[in-house]
Amino acid sequence: MSDDKEPKKSSGRQTVRDKAVRVKTARGRKNSSTRWLQRQLNDPYVREAQRLGYKSRAAFKLKELDEQLGLIKKNTVAVDLGAAPGGWCQVLNEHKADHIVAIDLIEVTEVPNIEFIQMDFTDNDAPDKLIEMLNGKRPNLVLSDIAPNTTGHQKTDHLRTMALVEMAWDFALNTLADGGHFVAKVFQGGTGKELLDQMNPHFEKIKHVKPKASRKGSPETYLVALNFKSTV
Ligand SMILES: C[S@@+](CC[C@H](N)C(=O)[O-])C[C@H]1O[C@@H](n2cnc3c(N)ncnc32)[C@H](O)[C@@H]1O
Repeated sequence: MSDDKEPKKSSGRQTVRDKAVRVKTARGRKNSSTRWLQRQLNDPYVREAQRLGYKSRAAFKLKELDEQLGLIKKNTVAVDLGAAPGGWCQVLNEHKADHIVAIDLIEVTEVPNIEFIQMDFTDNDAPDKLIEMLNGKRPNLVLSDIAPNTTGHQKTDHLRTMALVEMAWDFALNTLADGGHFVAKVFQGGTGKELLDQMNPHFEKIKHVKPKASRKGSPETYLVALNFKSTV
């Protein structure tokens, strides 16, 4: 079970839902699925996301990053890479983003005011497709919460994630508006020196931030690069 702190509730009253839920093993269900289900049912961020109508607990991660760093402005033009099920798009909408372009292998449903494409971001055509959807606007925010399917082999998973981060960075480098920001999920062990060396001259500041909503046991953390400049 996650040992993340419980987010503040509007009422101090304890409800039945606040009690830890135990999931019995069932025939046909793998132990790992039972553990996943139990963690979901007992995760305060999952419950809070359901209460507030967010599509995912990931919404709280972007909210925290934004509260700390002021990433999202009214009229922001944003690209959301790996957007499903749509929590980050909802947070962007709350801030009255001007234009949200999103891509994922899985469909994002019931999130208004987004331009979505169901496509693999690693497809050669994907960057051009996203640029077309931006309608000539440069994004102020390129976000990547893309998580490739994990193999359980730490080194392989790290390499796969970093390959996607490099592709996201390449897209950001070609599209970001001056003053814009780039956020990408990376694995601990962080961002490779070579990539950071490429990025450094283009940003005022680069940080690694692990939001409280990111599970403590998870190796994920976020690379946040602030105030882009295209020419260096
Ligand atoms: C952690 S989830 C994103 C959660 C999202 N930020 C939210 O707030 O709901 C990661 C997503 O990355 C997507 N993904 C993984 N590989 C991808 C790829 N090559 N192209 C597009 N999306 C990909 C997955 O389908 C998954 O929906």
